[in-house]
Amino acid sequence: MMKLFDVHSLDEFSRFSEWVSQQLRPGDRVLLSGDMGSGKTTFVAQVAKFLHSRSLVTSPTFTLIQRYEADLPLVHMDLYRLESEQSLLGLDIEAYLSDPRTVVFIEWPERLGRLRPEDFLKIEFSYLPAFSEYRKISVLGAGERWNVNLELFKI
Ligand SMILES: Nc1ncnc2c1ncn2[C@@H]1O[C@H](COP(=O)(O)OP(=O)(O)OP(=O)(O)O)[C@@H](O)[C@H]1O
Ligand SMILES: [Mg+2]
Repeated sequence: MMKLFDVHSLDEFSRFSEWVSQQLRPGDRVLLSGDMGSGKTTFVAQVAKFLHSRSLVTSPTFTLIQRYEADLPLVHMDLYRLESEQSLLGLDIEAYLSDPRTVVFIEWPERLGRLRPEDFLKIEFSYLPAFSEYRKISVLGAGERWNVNLELFKI
């Protein structure tokens, strides 16, 4: 099941994030795709805010993985700088991905290789530089968990 949204402002983007935050349950995996600056980290920051995170989300570009205490425990990974599939092991990524209590957000999820979860919500952001706050968002639910009607998904 896949659904497309047009978002015209950061404000509308925030309403999208709020909607997603209301759907999330422990154990959910959210794969975030899109070019640099398309809004992946902004999305995680907004979701964390709606889930009453105790601290502000910043890009984990150097730490790669960051955990946040919120209404649901959140883990945010940015795998852009991951050197190889081998280095996934050193980061305990498998342990984070098998924790059923935590919601995990993954930027650059193609780097997960064989560790990619079977059930995931994939959100892809694209933008046209000419319209700076405009984003096209595609949402795809895969696996048992996301065998839900995304038509109910409205901004
Ligand atoms: N409608 C919008 N939705 C999301 N971000 C927007 C929007 N309009 C403008 N922005 C701005 O675009 C930038 C998005 O940057 P962000 O760090 O979220 O991107 P990213 O996809 O995580 O990039 P990277 O791959 O470098 O981590 C932010 O500065 C944000 O304020
Ligand atoms: Mg980012």
